[in-house]
Amino acid sequence: MSPGPCHKPVLLHEVVRLLGIKPDGTYLDCTVGGGGHAYEIARRLDTGLLIGLDWDSQALEEARARLEPFAARVKLVQANFRDLEGVLDRLGISLVDGLLFDLGLSAIHVDSPERGFSFRSDGPLDMRMDREGNPLTAAEIVNSYSRAELVRILKEYGEERWASRIVEAIIRAREREPLERTLQLAELVVGAIPAPARRRMKIHPATRTFQALRIAVNDELENLRLGLEAGFRRLAPGGVMAVISFHSLEDRIVKRFFRNRADRGEAELFKLIRPTAEEIAENPRARSAKLRAAQKVR
Ligand SMILES: C[S@@+](CC[C@H](N)C(=O)[O-])C[C@H]1O[C@@H](n2cnc3c(N)ncnc32)[C@H](O)[C@@H]1O
Repeated sequence: MSPGPCHKPVLLHEVVRLLGIKPDGTYLDCTVGGGGHAYEIARRLDTGLLIGLDWDSQALEEARARLEPFAARVKLVQANFRDLEGVLDRLGISLVDGLLFDLGLSAIHVDSPERGFSFRSDGPLDMRMDREGNPLTAAEIVNSYSRAELVRILKEYGEERWASRIVEAIIRAREREPLERTLQLAELVVGAIPAPARRRMKIHPATRTFQALRIAVNDELENLRLGLEAGFRRLAPGGVMAVISFHSLEDRIVKRFFRNRADRGEAELFKLIRPTAEEIAENPRARSAKLRAAQKVR
């Protein structure tokens, strides 16, 4: 298999520099994806170990192929990063020297219409990252949740100002027939937003609705809160935890988490890092990335 579609890892050099990889260290990549960051970590190890987690079996396959040259130094495990402590316990590892969370969608998700994440190509309304472990699809949410619950999801997870209108349109449409396809939903969202507002938008009108559903389907914000807590508990003093986020809801959680640890004297924070203009030109996915990192003091 060729290297995965996650072929342009975001803020790669910055992550590697912050983590300060020691050849004999133990590192945990909580979102190994296509293995791009992991590759750069693994190739700096000699007696050390890299543990890569992903809850998506397709992503793990990509990572396995890409990290093949370093197989002896790498352990890949299918798991939700909120359960990272259980994974480390099973491997007999108490603390790690560095941790990475690279949040959000991988190219595997965006570029596979059948996964249902894209509002630009047709596919089933799925959006599950963990198809084996998670029974809740986006179709289930739009077809069965109450009006109030749908409005809450769109407002809270999508920061969508047209939430009520969009939900009205969803309810009307699902009374006729269930919503099953991504393009069906995307068109409906476009039609629900007043034309003048739509014309002023710099993003596709369905962006926020799709983001909101994806977050709800995958319980992303709760996973992040629990993952950060668990990761910090298992970080060795002197070790660094780095987190790349892609939207303000995630970034707010990360920022608060790190500030809180710094206020308690448990961590020292690095300055926020954003991608350079060159990186964004080469890799538009990097556009909204923010890298926050902290070193554990005690
Ligand atoms: C942006 S990609 C990572 C790309 C990777 N750093 C690379 O260089 O190829 C994010 C990955 O995190 C995974 N992911 C998201 N939430 C997760 C969670 N709660 N537990 C485990 N994996 C998760 C997704 O399945 C996806 O493969």
